[in-house]
Amino acid sequence: MNFRILVTVSANQTNSTMTKKILIALIVVLIGIQFIRPEKNLSDDNTYGLATVHKVPVKVDHLLKVACNDCHSNKTEYPWYAEVQPVAWWLADHVEDGKRHLNFSTFTKLPIAIQNHKFEEVVEMVEEREMPLDSYTYLGLHPGADLSDDERRMLIQWANAQMDLLKSTYPADSLVLKRRRPPSTTK
Ligand code: HEC
Repeated sequence: MNFRILVTVSANQTNSTMTKKILIALIVVLIGIQFIRPEKNLSDDNTYGLATVHKVPVKVDHLLKVACNDCHSNKTEYPWYAEVQPVAWWLADHVEDGKRHLNFSTFTKLPIAIQNHKFEEVVEMVEEREMPLDSYTYLGLHPGADLSDDERRMLIQWANAQMDLLKSTYPADSLVLKRRRPPSTTK
């Protein structure tokens, strides 16, 4: 009887020292990773920005700013929690991935057919509520990005109008997406 009590007590002790060690190790790791910071996305260069070629009414500009540009431009407005790792890594990953698909800061560098196609994708993404990413508005973060139906309609109409404008400005075949390596022609 006495022996059994002794065993239980010492088992409990080992358990709590283990828990303590694990906790301390975790804290050390959490502090350590604070020093590994991803590079920030903070360029002001707008040489090839969307509005240098395309019409961006003030209201649309505002929506793009509050709902899209953090991930789709070369300038992100970082919230305080972007100073905390590993959150910052996760954010940096979204920004990098988002910019690879669509970057409003370098938009007009793209061939006109691709710009046209990107407007088409904007329509799709906003219509299907795939963008902005859900995680962007979790927990009431970025409330301005929680787009109302009217705001979605405004973005969709704007992107459609840009495509119409391109259609009336450029010859039809220049807006057709070409393959990266077109099959060789005999010309
Ligand atoms: C929190 C970051 C984030 C925000 C905010 C965001 N996006 Fe995205 N977007 C992404 C990521 C990441 C991808 C690429 C992966 C994917 O498609 O899910 C992407 C992809 C896209 C694509 C390209 C899809 C394709 O097929 O290549 C379009 C168009 C797009 N987003 C439009 C928008 C618009 C318009 C808004 C604002 C209304 C917006 N996004 C807001 C992160 C974001």
